[in-house]
Amino acid sequence: MPLSKIAGIGFYVPANVFTNDDMKQYMDTSDEWIQERTGIKERRYADRLGETTTTMGVKAATIAIERAGITPQDIDFIIFATLSPDYYFPGCGVLLQRAMKMKEIGALDVRNQCSGFVYALSVADQFIKTGMYKNILVVGSEKHSFGLDFSTRGRNVSVIFGDGAGAVVLQPTTKSGQGILSTHLHSDGSSAEILAMYNPGTHANHWVNEKVGSFDEAAIGQQFISHAMIDEAQLFPNMDGPAVFKKAIEKFPEVINEALQKNGLTTNDLKLLIPHQANLRIAQFVQHRMKLRDDQVYNNIQQYGNTTAASIPIALCEAWEKGLVKEGDLICLAAFGSGFTWASALLHW
Ligand code: ACO
Repeated sequence: MPLSKIAGIGFYVPANVFTNDDMKQYMDTSDEWIQERTGIKERRYADRLGETTTTMGVKAATIAIERAGITPQDIDFIIFATLSPDYYFPGCGVLLQRAMKMKEIGALDVRNQCSGFVYALSVADQFIKTGMYKNILVVGSEKHSFGLDFSTRGRNVSVIFGDGAGAVVLQPTTKSGQGILSTHLHSDGSSAEILAMYNPGTHANHWVNEKVGSFDEAAIGQQFISHAMIDEAQLFPNMDGPAVFKKAIEKFPEVINEALQKNGLTTNDLKLLIPHQANLRIAQFVQHRMKLRDDQVYNNIQQYGNTTAASIPIALCEAWEKGLVKEGDLICLAAFGSGFTWASALLHW
């Protein structure tokens, strides 16, 4: 049976750099606070009207497809991961299919937030291994800046996120020492509301009352969308930061070790760990816990913030462009995020 290899990779970040000092125009925060707690110095924001999650995905995909030495018409399946889609429905996959003038191929949207890219890669890997498809495009893209609360009320969330996109083309390989060795997917919905955007939605307060409690019911879910939701800022993401941090530092090492053990490998074999860029402090904690050297972990959250489904392909692509990833190198991708969901993929480049 063939394995799947990354045949082409690309990323795109918008030109507009938004620094921590720029944040101060909108909310009570500081460069010191943001850097100390998250490591972030700046992030990119999409052009408000000129760019969307899909258009950024198209830019990253165009590079990945070109580097794979194929054309958009050769792609036979699309998997698009995002939590900030252009439309509530249909998903970004079909919008990308249309924009890139691809054939009438399948387009699947994945909604696994920060783990979205690794989940998407895992699905693509199964389709390649079974011989179902030969060229799968996997995209992670986010336009967070359009949907954040830029007042002081939302500062614990808004300072973290940035916009951007990454993409890979997966193809079969039979070359020894190359390809995805295994992927590992997990979830625990008991903490779903800890990092979530409840509205608009169809929950009708079923879960929110029990799990979150204190909001005005009318404002939350008795209607799909209401004036009260706007007035009470209930159309923005909610996050219990310390709770996310605690769970992330437990699950990251667990899922990385799972991937290594499954393949009879150790951290000594690892050339590079690409953790989802949630928070530099989380990545540093994981590095320390796993006794990894600085050169074994790649971080770029300092420049881009947390780009959720896009963060892993952006970081992987940047590391590859810098020459840090070479043929045969053992790479681990690992993610943790809202759901909670967490995941890893171990591959030889
Ligand atoms: N600027 C200034 N002060 C702020 C800001 C801000 N942007 N945000 C929050 N504060 C204040 C709070 O109001 C609070 O003030 P108080 O003590 O007067 O009440 C104080 O800072 C401490 O707040 P905490 O939330 O306890 O701060 P913490 O040290 O936990 O840092 C953070 C917050 C950065 C969100 C942290 O909890 C974290 O990174 N958690 C992980 C969450 C994460 O990574 N999320 C990313 C998305 S999910 C994912 O990708 C895994």
